[in-house]
Amino acid sequence: MDRLVIQGPNRLEGEVRISGAKNAALPILMATLLSEEPSRLGNIPHLRDVTTTLQLLASMGTRIVVDEKLNIELDNSDIHTREAPYELVKTMRASILVMGPLLARFGEARVSLPGGCAIGSRPVDVHIDGMKKMGADIRVERGYIIARAERLRGARIPMHVVTVTGTENLMMAAVLAEGTTVLENAACEPEVQDLAHFLNSMGAKISGIGTSTLVIEGVERLSGAVHDIIPDRIEAGTYLAAAAVTGSRVTATHVEPAHMTAVLEKFRQAGAELEIERNRITLDMRDRPLKPVDIVTAPYPLFPTDMQAQFLVMNALAKGRAVVEETLFENRFMHVSELLRMGADITVQGNKAITNGVERLIGAPVMATDLRASASLILAGLAAEGETVVNRVYHIDRGYECIEEKFHKLGADIVRLTDSQ
Ligand code: EPU
Repeated sequence: MDRLVIQGPNRLEGEVRISGAKNAALPILMATLLSEEPSRLGNIPHLRDVTTTLQLLASMGTRIVVDEKLNIELDNSDIHTREAPYELVKTMRASILVMGPLLARFGEARVSLPGGCAIGSRPVDVHIDGMKKMGADIRVERGYIIARAERLRGARIPMHVVTVTGTENLMMAAVLAEGTTVLENAACEPEVQDLAHFLNSMGAKISGIGTSTLVIEGVERLSGAVHDIIPDRIEAGTYLAAAAVTGSRVTATHVEPAHMTAVLEKFRQAGAELEIERNRITLDMRDRPLKPVDIVTAPYPLFPTDMQAQFLVMNALAKGRAVVEETLFENRFMHVSELLRMGADITVQGNKAITNGVERLIGAPVMATDLRASASLILAGLAAEGETVVNRVYHIDRGYECIEEKFHKLGADIVRLTDSQ
């Protein structure tokens, strides 16, 4: 298994180009299943989760062509299988997102039920109940969700939690349903909005985009569309957090600052100087001490759970006490025990992590079991004194494009070692 070796402490300097958003790319790739006409997608990040999604689509019959500008064309005119098998779903929970499109277009879907994962139990009851409300017959058999419907019917669907992929799956199911669907308590994340815009460019009729009530008037058929994926606000936030923990100045380019309001506000509270332009954000932390910031994770537009681990590293190095409260996932503090091994002072009490900032972290071999936790350990390694070895890099490769190359360009002393090295 690959590992990253970081010699710290590092000072970073320069610009980093932010890739397309993983969590927008995945549902939009799946949404192309809704039409027999081809779609062309740009700004798709080169990530393991994207490869897994393309594998899943290809296994169902999608023809995929990547052009010289790395646009991806997907032709779903010949889908012969309506199944997301266990082997793929177990490596990527987002595979459940084929359920809505398959059921809407073909009237059937067989999707392996995702099990628990490293950050919590993560049920999919909202996806299933919503599709049942639209008239689907759904059973769970031998670990698979088996869904059938002649044609889905529009329905009023109040969702008991705000769920990103739940909203996305139901939105994709509803676009081809007969009549109007109203999704209440919908997620408003920029990635959900990007999917809605893509669906509308295929001919769907979705209104209320960006609010918690989505109204979807079903249409008979959808066409193909051309679409560029929005920038990855979590990747951008991660590089800016890296500048913050290393006392550096870094500019993230090709970003959408409007998607990052809550995170940028917390960077300011942490003592960072920010310069915000149209598609660029510069964070300057040179000669500025980190201040501790209290954080409560919550659905958009509030502070994202996917930036929690990175801010915990900032707090670990900020003078004073801070409390980070995780409200979305019950088990999203796995980075804490690794940070303790690097000399951090953190106590976990239920869903809260309480930090007392230390002067410095000390490099150590570490590993984490989820994507954002692993990213936070890289940040800690960049700031720490001595050598940090981040094991199980495959978690990072799921969601960060060329992470060591991007950090290397910013001046970090970071190398990837493969198994044989
Ligand atoms: N929930 C339910 N029932 C459901 C669905 C969700 O109770 O049917 C609960 C979950 O257990 C959780 C809360 O609702 O407590 C929110 O989960 P959500 O469904 O919004 O998460 P998700 O859609 O599975 C997406 C992102 C995650 C991100 C979360 C929260 C994708 C592919 N994944 O997951 O991204 O953390 O929203 O914003 O969009 C990551 O990129 O590292 C990542 C984990």
